[in-house]
Amino acid sequence: MFHDAAACLLKDGKLIAAAEEERFIQVKHSKSPIPFSTYELPFHAIDYCLKTADIHLNQVDHIAYSFDPSLLLGNYNGNSEIAIPLDPSKIFNHPEWASPWDPLFLSAIVNSPGQLIDGYPHHLQPRFIGTTKGKATWHFTEHHIAHAASAFFPSPYKHAAVMTLDGRGEIATTTYNVGNGNELTRIGQVNMPHSLGLLYERLTTYLGFLHSSDEYKVMALASYGKPVFINHFRDMIQLGSDGMYTISDENLEERFGPSRLKNDPFTEHHFNIAHSLQYVLEETVLELASWLYEKTGEENLCLAGGIALNCVLNARIKDRSPFKNVWVQPAAGDAGTALGAAIWTDLQERKIGDKQFIMSHAYWGPEYSDQEIEKFLKWPKVPYRKMNNVARETAEILADNKIIGWFQGRMEFGPRALGSRSILASPIDPSMQSKLNEVKDREDFRPVAPVVLEEDADDWFENADYSPYMLFVHNVKADKAAKIPAVRHVDGTARIQTINRDQHPR
Ligand SMILES: [Fe+2]
Repeated sequence: MFHDAAACLLKDGKLIAAAEEERFIQVKHSKSPIPFSTYELPFHAIDYCLKTADIHLNQVDHIAYSFDPSLLLGNYNGNSEIAIPLDPSKIFNHPEWASPWDPLFLSAIVNSPGQLIDGYPHHLQPRFIGTTKGKATWHFTEHHIAHAASAFFPSPYKHAAVMTLDGRGEIATTTYNVGNGNELTRIGQVNMPHSLGLLYERLTTYLGFLHSSDEYKVMALASYGKPVFINHFRDMIQLGSDGMYTISDENLEERFGPSRLKNDPFTEHHFNIAHSLQYVLEETVLELASWLYEKTGEENLCLAGGIALNCVLNARIKDRSPFKNVWVQPAAGDAGTALGAAIWTDLQERKIGDKQFIMSHAYWGPEYSDQEIEKFLKWPKVPYRKMNNVARETAEILADNKIIGWFQGRMEFGPRALGSRSILASPIDPSMQSKLNEVKDREDFRPVAPVVLEEDADDWFENADYSPYMLFVHNVKADKAAKIPAVRHVDGTARIQTINRDQHPR
């Protein structure tokens, strides 16, 4: 769809495999968030899922796609023709379309069943060739149903309030739902053009980053600023009743001055804008969460949608909203809609009475045997050796202040490195953060995240208990701050991952 293409495979309601396309093709977010790339399907991720189950595409019964084009097609629904503009300005007159390229975008989605059968890359032939049309039933699933399903059904709760927030789906940008057993009921939604996610995206562009991709950089930048522009954002975001809000459509350059270009230096002005946006986003979503709590009477909250990757916001919701428990889908961005659409479709089709699957870890991607890894290392003649005591040697290397590329077991589903494909280093050396940012070729202001034993988390970080997915920030305890300078962000927080022996015996 827009970006972060992914695939997953369910069998009898149980997750077999899930992975993001970017991990196979080494293109971050897998494609540009533009209509011209909509037709690209996550063929490598699909191939991996089929391979894990040892089946051919022809053996899949149902295929779910996490966007329903019929919600935007209006009078064009059921028509076989739609005008795609050569010169978009001349025919842009459809009231529900956000862009003159929507016909191209929608046509790519409508034709995705054909693209799946015929458009696979040649090297992936074995699991795709000969797939017959109509063998699998195709399900276009509303985008926010997919987000909401990915948040609730894999959560540990039997019932919960469910909130989704992203840039946009077809029409919805924010939804409120109640999950109960195998039911998920929509109780409200905010529609385009009003979108907290799109406002964040617009500010991401304004600050010189790539929208629909780099929003986490704005969040990191926010920690360096002060809330000097909060009244501007309070002015732009108007809260209504019943969870509704509107966002004024205005020119950001008129309000905040010229936008930053990619390589321009950062100034206090940029930090303050990012900070103020983040501040008002938190304030606004807390209001929405309070309304949802009152409306549903639920004590559990499930979150998904790109905004739910904002771990500072998630921490605010956990600490300050009336909800007692908060669970965030680890693949909260659009990758997770693959899982949500599949679970939702499975529930509609099979009408099973109880929850089938609880997501207790994020390790659903490919793994490789020692033989496969050895074969790979021999090919470019990389020197290697087998270690006798991996833990001891790793500890010695870390104590020596060296950086380790850690590759273990099945790859993570979702954007966080959670100990399967991670870069490990010691948090003791204050310069380690900038060394890692250099290794990772990213901006100096970006924080790195600590991993901590679950039983020790509370000794080091305030109110920390169980947080296996790096989705919440916690303050580093005052008496520990000087001991782990490399993982303490400028505002004194850290985005922690807790581990226990079941998740990571090694
Ligand atoms: Fe989304």
